[in-house]
Amino acid sequence: MKGTVLYEVQENVAILTVDNPPVNPLSDGVRTGLYECITNAEDDDSIDAVVLTGNGRAFIAGADISEFGGNVEGISLNDVFKKLEFCKKPIVAAINGIALGGGLETALCCNYRIASKTAFVGLPEVNLGLLPGGGGTQRLPRLAGPAEALKMMLTGSHVSAKQALDLGIIDNIAEDIVTESIEFIKEKAKSTEIHPKVRDFNEKMIEARGNDTVLLEAQAMAAKGRKGQFAPGQIIKCVEAAINIDDFDEGLKKEGDYFLECLVHPQREAMIHIFFGERAASKISDVPKDTKIMDIKKAGIIGSGTMGGGIAMCFANAGIPVHIIDQDQENLDRGISVIEKNYDFMVNRGRLTSEQKESIFGSISTGLDYKDLSDCDIVIEAVYENLELKHEIFKSLDEIVKEGAILASNTSGLDIDSIASVTNRPELVVGTHFFSPANIMRLLEVVRGKQTSDETLATVMAIGKKLRKAAVVSLNAPGFIGNRMLFRYTAQANMLLLEGALPHQVDQALESFGLNMGPFRMMDLVGLDLGWRARKLSGKESPLHAKIGDELCEQNRYGQKSKAGYYNYSEGSRAPNPAPENEKTYEKISCENGFTRREISDEEIVDRCILALINEGADILSEGVAQRAADIDVVYINGYGFPIWRGGPMHHANAMGLDKVIEKLEKYREITGNDVYKPSDMLLKLAKEGGKLGEAPNKTERKEKLDFAMSSVANNF
Ligand SMILES: NC(=O)c1ccc[n+]([C@@H]2O[C@H](COP(=O)([O-])OP(=O)(O)OC[C@H]3O[C@@H](n4cnc5c(N)ncnc54)[C@H](O)[C@@H]3O)[C@@H](O)[C@H]2O)c1
Repeated sequence: MKGTVLYEVQENVAILTVDNPPVNPLSDGVRTGLYECITNAEDDDSIDAVVLTGNGRAFIAGADISEFGGNVEGISLNDVFKKLEFCKKPIVAAINGIALGGGLETALCCNYRIASKTAFVGLPEVNLGLLPGGGGTQRLPRLAGPAEALKMMLTGSHVSAKQALDLGIIDNIAEDIVTESIEFIKEKAKSTEIHPKVRDFNEKMIEARGNDTVLLEAQAMAAKGRKGQFAPGQIIKCVEAAINIDDFDEGLKKEGDYFLECLVHPQREAMIHIFFGERAASKISDVPKDTKIMDIKKAGIIGSGTMGGGIAMCFANAGIPVHIIDQDQENLDRGISVIEKNYDFMVNRGRLTSEQKESIFGSISTGLDYKDLSDCDIVIEAVYENLELKHEIFKSLDEIVKEGAILASNTSGLDIDSIASVTNRPELVVGTHFFSPANIMRLLEVVRGKQTSDETLATVMAIGKKLRKAAVVSLNAPGFIGNRMLFRYTAQANMLLLEGALPHQVDQALESFGLNMGPFRMMDLVGLDLGWRARKLSGKESPLHAKIGDELCEQNRYGQKSKAGYYNYSEGSRAPNPAPENEKTYEKISCENGFTRREISDEEIVDRCILALINEGADILSEGVAQRAADIDVVYINGYGFPIWRGGPMHHANAMGLDKVIEKLEKYREITGNDVYKPSDMLLKLAKEGGKLGEAPNKTERKEKLDFAMSSVANNF
């Protein structure tokens, strides 16, 4: 059995310490331990009261997620909770650190709760497609009130001890948590016979009865922040039951029913897949676990533009001092003022105090002299996307920056091996592909060059963790993982436009599928002119899928930046308005290229765009560019707005069934004559074996990687 509960007695108080390192989840050993220790305390006449706490930095971090989906052994959590709630001796939860999910639910079953200053509590089950099914939806509203409890459960975010005290979730904050909890519970045991149970606090429920405002506001919050998700609606129904049903146990029963519906819902599996996927992404199969990780005490950034500024903020926020260099004072001043504005915005929103801002912003220094980077442990280049310029900069960095320091490029798609080749330390060169805005977007693609050493890779993955990124390794290949898939996807969206669909129809269909933003809104946001200029420079004829975009650029319709693209934009607004004047352009280009425009169903739109992603993803996996299918899902969810509740494109394919995927690919290949829909060999092989997209094949069985020089993908980024 995993985990245990330690039992000791001090001054007639039983002290129960949950011991299941590192964060004390409620594994079978902990559940059994809690049950037995409470029984011991009840049976021992010399014991007056109980203190329940956790070993190390956590109280109880939650349920043991590794038990999900399998047969749960031993005593159930509900039996433990009952035992705690109806214990004959008073119990105080001494919340020494994080108390999340089942951890907070455990504390809510105790008579009293005291937390240390640094503790925080929350019910984050919604992030896994679940609801707090251990009584959390019934007890938290009774303490914090339904509005605050719903906010916590729908966002899944935690609150500090101070906030928990203000909300009535805890009774007190303590410095020396166990000692003070012993004192507290001894007093309580002496002074009162009846100790409060959260289940009996009905005041706030009765107050909320007959007024739907709180529930309607919660529905609006869920619709905005958790579009398409199943669990939030279930949570709201649970709180509705807590408000309207007098009998607490009846409410608990409702919660149990709604919980089960979440448990068997496909979204639960998809979201847990991503939870584990993000953790697995940091494991690199051929890099030994004990690989040395370099100490990163100072970072340098070249270029204070869109990306450089955001990346600098990530380091500063993580407590790593950072020095930024730009080519001239004007650019540097502009860059640093954007950074300061971002921090001021956070202060205005109450996310940072002025003192915190001073300290964090103060850890960012700037200058024009490359020599000031000499003592950095890592330098990240974020200048214009131009290979010659990057070569020049890496040559200088190699001369100036101390031996052993990592040199990284934020390139979106240039060849990392080529960049490494101009240095005398190719083993220390790596790609760190942050996404815009870098201080907000969670994705970090770590691009592994041919010569990148294990130490460099392991160190950059560790930095990713420190910066709170979802870091995923990609081999050095055109478009890496995400942009390569995006290229196939937007190309298909453009083909649909050429064949007869309109931008708003494509966007709406894909947004209804769950994407944050449809492809045409996204292209307008990024700017249609980037690809157009690159294609013009290349002197080659544009591919079919780019023809309409190029024609719009000829009409100075570059997207949001020129207030007109696939949509029209009013001054100062990013909201897309229809652009009926474009329709004659679409008709003209379709006709010139031999297409008879036709009605296209929403189903075809979604199928074709998503299948293009899946098929390219399978190729990326078969080339070993991504280590595993879940890595691709993590990339696409964290960087490209794919709905988390569908688990990413690869999980979506597995859930659909690979036979079905192949059948659909063949169908669209037939309709369009486009080889984009020729099923990837890997899909065919797996479907035949009844397998699923999972690990990349081992090195000897891999398909050859795309070549930078030959790739049409590379020419588009
Ligand atoms: N913008 C994005 O969405 C995005 C996303 C991911 C990756 N990238 C990549 O990040 C890199 C930077 O892109 P960006 O959008 O931040 O560009 P940007 O144009 O906003 O900023 C580039 C900065 O580099 C500075 N610079 C240019 N030459 C320099 C030199 N020789 N020495 C010092 N500074 C110099 C410029 O003055 C400017 O401040 C590119 O490689 C780009 O492909 C961009």
